[in-house]
Amino acid sequence: MKTRSQIIVFIVSVLVFLSVLAAALVKARQSPEPLTGNWVVRTPTTNNDGTFRTTYLSLRQDGQKITGTIRVTQFYYKISESTGGPDGFTLTGSMIDGKTERKVQYEGKLVGDQLQISTRRRPTDPPTQMVAVRAPAGEGAMPARNPLPALHKVRDNGLARTPPMGWNSWNKFASRVDDATVRSIADAMATNGMKDAGYQYINIDDTWEAGRDAQGNIQTNKKFPDMKALADYVHSKGLKLGIYSSPGPNTCAGYEGSYGHEEQDARTYAAWGIDYLKYDWCGARNLYTDEEMPQVYQIMGDALLKQKRPIVYSLCQYGRLDVWKWGADVGGNLWRTTGDIRDAWDSMTRIGFNQNDLAPYAKPGHWNDPDMLEIGNGAMSNDEYKTHMSLWAMLAAPLLAGNDLRSMSPEILAILTNKEVIAIDQDKLGKQGQRMSQSGEQEVWTRSLSGGDIAVAIFNRAKDEAKISLRPADLKIAGKWKARDLWTHQDVTWPSDGEYSVTIPAHGVLMLRLSR
Ligand code: GLA
Repeated sequence: MKTRSQIIVFIVSVLVFLSVLAAALVKARQSPEPLTGNWVVRTPTTNNDGTFRTTYLSLRQDGQKITGTIRVTQFYYKISESTGGPDGFTLTGSMIDGKTERKVQYEGKLVGDQLQISTRRRPTDPPTQMVAVRAPAGEGAMPARNPLPALHKVRDNGLARTPPMGWNSWNKFASRVDDATVRSIADAMATNGMKDAGYQYINIDDTWEAGRDAQGNIQTNKKFPDMKALADYVHSKGLKLGIYSSPGPNTCAGYEGSYGHEEQDARTYAAWGIDYLKYDWCGARNLYTDEEMPQVYQIMGDALLKQKRPIVYSLCQYGRLDVWKWGADVGGNLWRTTGDIRDAWDSMTRIGFNQNDLAPYAKPGHWNDPDMLEIGNGAMSNDEYKTHMSLWAMLAAPLLAGNDLRSMSPEILAILTNKEVIAIDQDKLGKQGQRMSQSGEQEVWTRSLSGGDIAVAIFNRAKDEAKISLRPADLKIAGKWKARDLWTHQDVTWPSDGEYSVTIPAHGVLMLRLSR
């Protein structure tokens, strides 16, 4: 008997032991390793607009291996490599952006219930230190892709028969733009001669956005207390107001984009009294491929057309996927053809002189956009800014000043308001100019104008002044022509025979209008 009960006790204890062990094993499997979880770094934006720059690290730790995703403002990376664990780890995130791979690297360690992490923009930069705290699972996750519509031709909105003219906040003010700045820029434009010269749009670029309300309506941040009142103000000056968004969940500066709210945002813009939208790809790159851009841009093209208010539609996707071939079909009035311009001779000329082949795609209502003007921002000479203005006019480019209109020199104002050069830009034939000839660092560009006139720009890209001679045959013209120098505002003699000789300053330009 004794032996039997001993056996029973033994069996029961073994069973108890096994079930305790099994429970412990299950628990061990379920209880996550310390780094596993969703972490967020929330940093107030530098301009105190009430919004935050967020970085989400959604991590899964398996012993010495960490997988997951990193979402930082507009970028969404998959963790492709990791080393270490809670006491010290490095994570490498990677994402495909068009044809290139972007990478980001974080170093960190777990201290209490916080992650102390650091990252560098470039390997040689000093590290940025951050503290991440736990966030609810799913917060900050990339939304799922929305299905894309079939392509169709969006009806022409009838706007921008000549290239849009105005001002945009980005080049000078970037994230510092606010309501007071926009009002005072409108005041300046209305009174300093720019409005008379044809400038019309006051465009707020990125960083006006906050989040959305419970109904999904986009909100403005602290810098823009009342967008409708601001639009009313700008309109009261006889000017128009433009705004900015992205087809992605985030804008380039990491603010709220229009993803999934396209029609709702178009309605909001119309209700505020917005007249112009710049729609910037950025955050959409994490959800869609470049090949899907036409469909993505068509969504907003359709949404804007549904509004009673005419709204100019400006595509900004840096000229990818040959946007000039489809920009008009998705409702675009203009499309950026390149990456961002900088206030530097190299940047401006690299962009401007590379637009030659795009000429056939510009026409009334639909323009190539080599980016906004840097005239007056301080890092180029006045001759260089004249070259910038002349080249953009030859290119039938939008003329969006990007400087502080409240405090520019008379010389800069004169460059921006040169009505004879503006008349070339705004010529109603809408034919973009092209390079006629090039000899070393000197280039001759021509542009056919309405009524049979011709604009001629002779550019000297060299560091020294250059003497240039031009014969009528070089321009494929003959006979008697009248000529006007559009920078000295004087008639000049154009030889029907012989040569036209002129000395052009370093990085300078001569611009003529020839007419019969
Ligand atoms: C991109 C655009 C710029 C500007 C910024 C704003 O870089 O190309 O023109 O709009 O975004 O974040």
